[in-house]
Amino acid sequence: MTYADWPLFDLWSRCREVELRPVREADLPELAALEPEDAEPDPRLAMLPGLTDRQNKQRLFHQGYWRALGTWSPQSWVLHLAVRHEGALVGVQTLEGDDFPELRTVDSASWLIPGVRGRGLGVAMRTAALGLAFDHLGALAAITSAALDNQASLGVSRRIGYRDNGLGFVHSREGRLLLRHLRLPADEWTRGAEVEAGGVAPCLPWFGLA
Ligand SMILES: CC(C)(COP(=O)(O)OP(=O)(O)OC[C@H]1O[C@@H](n2cnc3c(N)ncnc32)[C@H](O)[C@@H]1OP(=O)(O)O)[C@@H](O)C(=O)NCCC(=O)NCCS
Repeated sequence: MTYADWPLFDLWSRCREVELRPVREADLPELAALEPEDAEPDPRLAMLPGLTDRQNKQRLFHQGYWRALGTWSPQSWVLHLAVRHEGALVGVQTLEGDDFPELRTVDSASWLIPGVRGRGLGVAMRTAALGLAFDHLGALAAITSAALDNQASLGVSRRIGYRDNGLGFVHSREGRLLLRHLRLPADEWTRGAEVEAGGVAPCLPWFGLA
């Protein structure tokens, strides 16, 4: 059954053994429980006193889902994609755009459960998301950022062809954190043939691409 009023739910993208589909309400309990400790919530979001760190994290995961849907606009969108491998939920690949109709730039974030890391799934899921962005949504560039010691995230970006694009400070719960920024322009994107995607046409107005 398709979801005509919210066609984003019918988007999908695949690269090798990894399939991405938008996170749905029914996925929330499982994904929130799976979210690993090293996937850090936005430090600007308040932790409620009286909840453990883990309860706060799972609460923020739910709120992040509802916030993304409730505040969606072509000028500011966040697409949380559930990552499935061999039929099981194993992570989340997020793609986001600010002023996308004009800037045509996507940012990304992701996590995988520890048990499936280090086997190329991180590259496959980012590739699947970028295939949507570059080959179906007309993105002109992809950007991303990672802590200087996050070798796995930096490794995914470099394997896909992003280049270093400077350093910058951001807030973290531990204080100021130095991030490496990376950028991949559309004319250096070479992995389109690895990606299959569908359900895009009815979503184009959601991205300001009518
Ligand atoms: C980031 C993450 C999604 C990457 O997924 P992954 O499955 O581990 O990555 P891959 O197996 O696809 O590896 C990608 C590249 O990084 C390298 N790499 C992976 N883990 C590494 C590590 N711990 N140290 C050094 N290099 C590493 C791999 O060798 C590979 O490079 P190559 O293709 O040149 O050999 C995953 O590690 C994760 O969930 N980390 C915790 C959350 C996080 O930090 N998210 C990113 C911040 S938004």
